[in-house]
Amino acid sequence: MCGIVAYLGQAEACAIILKGLKRLEYRGYDSAGVALMTDQLSVYKKQGKVAELEALVAQTAPAATLRATIGMGHTRWATHGEPNDVNAHPHYSSDGKLAIIHNGIIENYLAIKQELANHGHIFASQTDTEVLVHFIEHVQKTNQCSLEEAVRLALNKVVGAYAIVVMSVDTPEQLVAARKSSPLVIGVGQRDGAGQPTEFFLASDATPIIEYTKDVVYLNDQEIAVIKRGGVLEVKTTADVPTTPFIQQLDLELAAIEKGGYDSFMLKEIFEQPQSVRDCLRGRLIPERGHLALGGLVKHLDDLLNAQRIIILGCGTSWHAGLVAEYLIEELARIPVEVEYASEFRYRNPIIHPGDVVVAISQSGETADTLAAIELAKQQGAVVLGVCNVVGSSIARASHEGAYTHAGPEIGVASTKAFTAQLTVLTMLALILAQRRGTIAPALYRELLFELAEIPEKIGRALQTNPLVKQIAERFKHARNCLYLGRGFHFPVALEGALKLKEISYVHAEGYPAAEMKHGPIALIDEEMPVVFVAIKDQSYEKIVSNIQEVKARKGQVIAVVTEGDTLIGPMVDYVVEVPASYDVLTPLLTVIPLQLLAYHMAVLRGCNVDQPRNLAKSVTVE
Ligand code: G6P
Repeated sequence: MCGIVAYLGQAEACAIILKGLKRLEYRGYDSAGVALMTDQLSVYKKQGKVAELEALVAQTAPAATLRATIGMGHTRWATHGEPNDVNAHPHYSSDGKLAIIHNGIIENYLAIKQELANHGHIFASQTDTEVLVHFIEHVQKTNQCSLEEAVRLALNKVVGAYAIVVMSVDTPEQLVAARKSSPLVIGVGQRDGAGQPTEFFLASDATPIIEYTKDVVYLNDQEIAVIKRGGVLEVKTTADVPTTPFIQQLDLELAAIEKGGYDSFMLKEIFEQPQSVRDCLRGRLIPERGHLALGGLVKHLDDLLNAQRIIILGCGTSWHAGLVAEYLIEELARIPVEVEYASEFRYRNPIIHPGDVVVAISQSGETADTLAAIELAKQQGAVVLGVCNVVGSSIARASHEGAYTHAGPEIGVASTKAFTAQLTVLTMLALILAQRRGTIAPALYRELLFELAEIPEKIGRALQTNPLVKQIAERFKHARNCLYLGRGFHFPVALEGALKLKEISYVHAEGYPAAEMKHGPIALIDEEMPVVFVAIKDQSYEKIVSNIQEVKARKGQVIAVVTEGDTLIGPMVDYVVEVPASYDVLTPLLTVIPLQLLAYHMAVLRGCNVDQPRNLAKSVTVE
């Protein structure tokens, strides 16, 4: 959702903040703002991208303001109130002395707003955030206390999720920050001769910090940090208990969060997949020695092996990875699996039996619905295992154990390399369970280990379809609808292909199990309708060939993703895209590649911003 950056140090805060906001723009990009502290508190806000805020600041901010060494900035994904200049953050208190930036939602803001209105507060915006800063002001005035204390007391009355930073003209050399269910990282920058830090950074994730320092502190839920000149970093809980900030080293390189010559992050991330899958397998798979292990899933492996049922939770693309895992685990390890949207799971009073294990999948590790579902499952006694990409993320920390996907930072809003890395981890998990439970023949297990090691190279070959897929996108760029069909392992791949297309090109797309087409979607088919089939040579090959004929008989336009060397389907359809042959259980890692490329090219040809599609956000930290 929204992105937060703040700085206190010796350098010019504005430039650091604007650059940091651009790095965080994937989190939200409908408006942005910055607050800079000199002898006064100056706020600049603008609807639109950070570049527009940058232009506003360049045109209107006095040189002295630009030299400020303390400040904070925000890029917004609107929840309360439409995206415009007024609703953009930072927001002022009613006396103009405090300013706040906020990521999250204050659920009881209407009640607080009403109470404050009774005390004469007038609000400029429609946001919950402005209510919070007025509330902090009210609490501070009523209790005659420090800013930190006012923030603490106010937050104890607040229901909802937040990561906030607050500045005050009365204490101009200080930043107060807090978090609950929304991430916040503190960077500890340069130090003086005595080793005291002379600069601090605050951000929603490490990407704005990485080029300045690798020393970071991840603030925990319900913690408040006070940062002051003189190297002061104090952390307390919202219950007023001091805690010791734990400085850890970031394992992230700057190049990983830059475009590296590609037109977009999404294209870079699509083409990184041979490497990201290799990184995901590294150290875990050594086929020559018959070695396959997930180091993060050791203590609870027995729980998994003995599970009566595995419940997989996720949202969006991560949910699709869960659906593939359902096929994988049931096929290979013969353990019943249920896959559920995290948002549905948490609100339907789910039944969790002893012996159920929950696997939560999330690229960001911050998705609010998934996090809340995990907490619910834990309360009911379930063992929760996380499959996350972002190291140290909230879901990774909330899980009992887990396996990281090691795909590296994914910045394009539409998930690509995180999906294939999730599939890789889940495939390894299914194979480990199958081998330990004796549900797979030893010879097949060995063959699959060798084949899994070949998958990065095969993904590279699938990527060579790029020029052909671009031609197909040219042909269908004006399409208004698109149907994606697959069976078995490729039904979730069809869902993922459809999601990619709608997310970034705004073409309506639906994924369906191919056999279900005749129960409804077939009514949509005419000569205008592109239908993408995932028609790999697997156990349902003959059936899917029949489905292709049913579409062609109704003059649909068929694009078929087939196994390399397939000669049967080509003459029947309009376009064929070949991917390398592999074992059934591994082919989703290959068939999804042309579907990612198709969505990408359709979006580019339609003039869409593929990295920052409208209305979406990479990390959805609100329910
Ligand atoms: C958002 C993103 C999707 C992502 C989903 C789940 O909707 O736009 O690309 O699949 O959240 O995110 P997670 O970080 O939990 O995988």
